[in-house]
Amino acid sequence: MRVAKAVVPAAGLGTRFLPATKAQPKEMLPVVDRPAIHYIAEEVDACGIRDLLIVTGRGKRAIEDHFDRAIELERLLEATGNPRLGELQALLDRLQVFYVRQGTPRGLGHAIACAERHIDGEDFAVLLPDDLYLSPEPALSQLISVAERLDAPVVAVVPVPPQDISRYGVVTVGEEVEPGVFRVLDMVEKPRQEEAPSHLGVVGRYVLPPGIFSHLARVEPGAGGEIQLTDALRALCQSRPVYAVTVVGERYDIGEPLGLLRAQISFALQRPELRQGVRAFLAEVAKANGLL
Ligand code: UTP
Repeated sequence: MRVAKAVVPAAGLGTRFLPATKAQPKEMLPVVDRPAIHYIAEEVDACGIRDLLIVTGRGKRAIEDHFDRAIELERLLEATGNPRLGELQALLDRLQVFYVRQGTPRGLGHAIACAERHIDGEDFAVLLPDDLYLSPEPALSQLISVAERLDAPVVAVVPVPPQDISRYGVVTVGEEVEPGVFRVLDMVEKPRQEEAPSHLGVVGRYVLPPGIFSHLARVEPGAGGEIQLTDALRALCQSRPVYAVTVVGERYDIGEPLGLLRAQISFALQRPELRQGVRAFLAEVAKANGLL
C-alpha cells in the first residue's frame, strides 16, 4: 500500500452536539484555539500526505473558509507583527485541500463513496474529525507503517469497556501478527454488549484500497438507515487480508460533550503557555469538589 491522499468525511449533522451544531459544523468546534478539523489537517501533513479531500455538505462553509486565505486579515496581522496565522499559512502552503459535497448525509460509507472520483484508483487514508489523538507518533502514521509493511488495508482499534462497546463497530480478530496488530476476520456495527465479538472497537483512522468503492456501491442501508462503512469493510475482509492496529496514544471522541471537555483539558496541558494555569485551575476544582 502507498498512501498519497487522505479523505476526511465532515458532512454529518452532529446531532449529539446540538444545539452547538445547529448553525456551525461540529468539525469546527475549537479544541483550545484550533478547530477540531485543523488538528486532522496537521496529522495528515505530519504523514507527508499533500492531497486532502474533505467531504462537506450543507452548512459546512466555515470549513472551507478555515482552509482558505483571508487576505485582509493576513495583511492586518502582518502590519501589526502578529504571528497567529503563520502556522496555518505554512500548513496550507504544503497541503492541497479539495472538497466534494455529500448532498444528503446518508452515512459514513456514503460519504466515503463520494470520494471515489478524486481517489482515482489509488490507496487512501480516511480520518474522522471526531477522533483526535495525543500520541508520540501520529495515529495515521502508525497505521500507514503497518499498511506498507503488510501491504494490506488497516483499521484503527482501541480496547473499549464492555458498557460502551455497543457504540462501536467491533472486530472479530484472528492471529496477532505483530504486537498490537491483528488479522480481522469479521466486523459488526454497534453490537449488543453480550453479542460483541471482542473488546476492540473501530475508531476513526483507516488505510483503504480503491477496491473499497465497489463494496460500498453494493452496501444496503443498515443500522439507522445509513450506508455503513463497516458493511463494506466486512466484504473487504472476505476478499483479502485486513488488519486492525491498536493505536498507541490517547484518543478523544470529541463528537460528544464529555469527550470534547476531556480533549480541551489534555490538549491545553500540552501547551507550555497554558499548562501552569490549567493545572492550577484543575487543583482548585478538585479541592472545591472534595476530590483531593
Ligand atoms: P458521526 O456519526 O460521528 O457524525 O460520523 P454525525 O452523524 O455528524 O454525528 P451525530 O451522531 O449526528 O452526532 C463520523 C464522521 O463522518 C461524517 C461526520 O461529519 C463525522 O465527521 N459523516 C457522517 C459524513 O460525512 N456523512 C454522513 O452521512 C455521516
